[in-house]
Amino acid sequence: MALKSVQKELLKLLADGQFHSGRKLSGQLGLSRTAIWNHTNELKRLGLGLHSVTGRGYRLNPPLELLESDLIHSHLELAVAKQLSSLEIYDSIDSTNGQLSKAVHLGASSGAVCLAESQTNGRGRLGRTWVSPFGRNIYLSSLWQYEAGPAILSGLSLAVGVAAIRALNQEGFSDVGLKWPNDIFSNGKKLGGILIEIMGDALGPCTVIVGVGLNVDLPGQSAEEIDQPWTDLTKMMGSGVVSRNRIAARLLNELFPILENFDQTGLTEYHEEWSQMDCMAEKRATLRIGKELLIGTALGIDKSGLLMFEDELGQRKSYASGEVSLRVVDDNQDA
Ligand code: BTN
Repeated sequence: MALKSVQKELLKLLADGQFHSGRKLSGQLGLSRTAIWNHTNELKRLGLGLHSVTGRGYRLNPPLELLESDLIHSHLELAVAKQLSSLEIYDSIDSTNGQLSKAVHLGASSGAVCLAESQTNGRGRLGRTWVSPFGRNIYLSSLWQYEAGPAILSGLSLAVGVAAIRALNQEGFSDVGLKWPNDIFSNGKKLGGILIEIMGDALGPCTVIVGVGLNVDLPGQSAEEIDQPWTDLTKMMGSGVVSRNRIAARLLNELFPILENFDQTGLTEYHEEWSQMDCMAEKRATLRIGKELLIGTALGIDKSGLLMFEDELGQRKSYASGEVSLRVVDDNQDA
């Protein structure tokens, strides 16, 4: 749903989570109380906890920190701020990855970033949809260009996982890890995911779009569509409000240095760190390759980022991410 500018203003006034009387809001926005009532009804459709109580007014519970360019900038490292070639924030977009794919043809360059409050067609791995309700999570994409061809980007999604965990650790979330190939996990539950899309010629140049989706405060209603155990940062924190702007900045602070040098470092630089973050290592797991299902043990990644897996007969093989899906045994949901 596209927000009207007056609805955005209304949302900003309500964002603090306090009660606001209809009379005061109508004065602040220069609208009738009926118009305020109509707009709040439309805002309710975004799935935000917007309530009205007779005699007290309207209240957003939980409060909301809208994405704001200035706030994101205020948390960026200086070097990263310099590399940021554009920062676009949408209320609603089909997909932040999709938006940057289009922007390439309009001259977008390395360091272009797109964030959205909601996605109408958020893309997940293996053609899945990424649940993307308004104002609750992080949907962030970043674009980088390389002289060389796509082959140099092998293992990049794993390195991006390292960036995401570093950012979450800095934010105080220690109980987080990675599940090959590109899931962000906490205590056996999916917290986020990474989707890398590459365009270009085999011999170069190429452009990569790195998409990161992170559940910050996923409403239960939206989560009904998710077909596996999930969690979000708000649940993990227990109480308080997670700053999406600060987390977005931290993600960029970690992501840009990796993207800047990945054509030189490849995965080698991040291999050990990834392995320390691997939450599937030595776990009994199933591996689905197309229609085939293997049961065995996940053994981490090899130097090029392939998953090493030992089946029940003790045979060890390495697998590329392509159409492969790894999940913990006992977790009946597809990962
Ligand atoms: C996965 O399936 O785990 C990957 C999910 C990636 C979702 C993010 S949200 C921001 C970016 N835009 C998209 O459409 N997808 C990625």
